[in-house]
Amino acid sequence: MSISYLNGEYQPLAEARISPLDRGFLFGDGIYEVIPYYGGKSVGLMPHINRMINGLAAIEIKNSHTAEEWKTLLDDLVERNADMGENLGVYVHISRGTDVKRYHPYPENVEPTIFCFCFGIKDPEPLDRSAVTQYSLVSTEDLRWQRCHIKSTALLGNVMHFQEGYSTGADEALLYNANNELTEGSSCNVFVVKDGKISTPIQDNQILPGITRRIILDSLKSDGNLDVEERIITMDEVRNADELWITSSSKEIAPVTKLDGQPVGNGEVGEIWEQAFKVYTASKFDF
Ligand code: PDD
Repeated sequence: MSISYLNGEYQPLAEARISPLDRGFLFGDGIYEVIPYYGGKSVGLMPHINRMINGLAAIEIKNSHTAEEWKTLLDDLVERNADMGENLGVYVHISRGTDVKRYHPYPENVEPTIFCFCFGIKDPEPLDRSAVTQYSLVSTEDLRWQRCHIKSTALLGNVMHFQEGYSTGADEALLYNANNELTEGSSCNVFVVKDGKISTPIQDNQILPGITRRIILDSLKSDGNLDVEERIITMDEVRNADELWITSSSKEIAPVTKLDGQPVGNGEVGEIWEQAFKVYTASKFDF
């Protein structure tokens, strides 16, 4: 049974309770993170915590913990849940808190609700082009809000896009803006490979600044063997790519071999994926 953390108390997840007047419940007024731990070791813990602290500041939710205190709290929760399995994801959710009425403006003198729990995640995928899980995506226009850089708990826009893919048997929805430029996936970032060159959309308000994305960019740049850049990518380029990858804390770097029912490149997992995944796997615990 997962032991959750709620406002300083540890209890079985199924017993955790919040008020229906919590602004997270009423308005999706909160910030969240999902952080992977493999064999007790985190990937990108400090970058995740820093993104969360920035998100709280962006929406003016009080942050009562230093980055070090967050680290101690999350590492401790993972230890308390060690019997849940070798690989765990930690979900952290901070809402603005519980008010006495439903009223839109930010209330004063309300304490944020802090809720965290662990869940089992899959083993990392094998570094093997013939055995790794392949993904099939559908593309659709990105109809979310213009603050996608904030990791808000208000995920209805993402959920609706994910469902568009899911309901047709696809694994994810790949999103493009009104200019026919790639943004991201409904729950992941996207990388494109053409003629050995790797690209991913620039970090702006149209995408979440993914931690996995950042680890991939930084580790590939310091490795120095692959050409990688952040730039605007058109959907024509996406459709003509040799390889397409989706990246997130739970998927790491996942190869996409089908888009809108058509093969990506030659329809097989590419060799640049294998090289990049090798570099990422060798350095992911350093972040
Ligand atoms: N999703 N873009 C969106 C819209 C996301 O929701 C996510 C993560 C990412 C990748 O970010 P990161 O590499 O930091 O996980 C990009 C998480 C895992 C989720 O909502 O479950």
